[in-house]
Amino acid sequence: MSRRILILNGPNLNLLGTREPELYGTQTLVQIEELAIKHARKHNLVAECRQSNNEAELIGWIQQSRGKCGGIIINAAAYTHTSIAILDALKAVGLPVVEVHLTDPKKREPFRHHSFVELAASATFAGMGSDGYLRALDFLAEKLGPDPVPSR
Ligand code: DQA
Repeated sequence: MSRRILILNGPNLNLLGTREPELYGTQTLVQIEELAIKHARKHNLVAECRQSNNEAELIGWIQQSRGKCGGIIINAAAYTHTSIAILDALKAVGLPVVEVHLTDPKKREPFRHHSFVELAASATFAGMGSDGYLRALDFLAEKLGPDPVPSR
């Protein structure tokens, strides 16, 4: 199984740092991605980070991960609550999926309580800020098992 992990972030997460900092904190997405890439290396995983405001683009990346990645970490942002198409894509590729949210949507407005992504995910880390991405990497590292080529 590939040790490449696709880390996907959905709409408006490109604005992290300035977007509602009282909710989402002051770290930028680039800073969070750098933390994730470094943390992945500790597990001999390669994190490939992508963000889009476009549902079709996210679906394209999910489809392309088939056979290339060992797992997907996804914060689908608002698409979490609306996108059956992203759910279907995640199920179609058959890779382990971990759902991440900076906040805990289940403790926010009722329209955020339902998650389509959750239906394809083996685990969800929510309400932990950027740590959620790191915990998601730990989860996938555990699931994938030790690197058969540890010198990589
Ligand atoms: C979010 C929670 C979603 O409800 C919201 O639409 C987002 C961010 C989070 O990371 O807490 O854009 O996914």
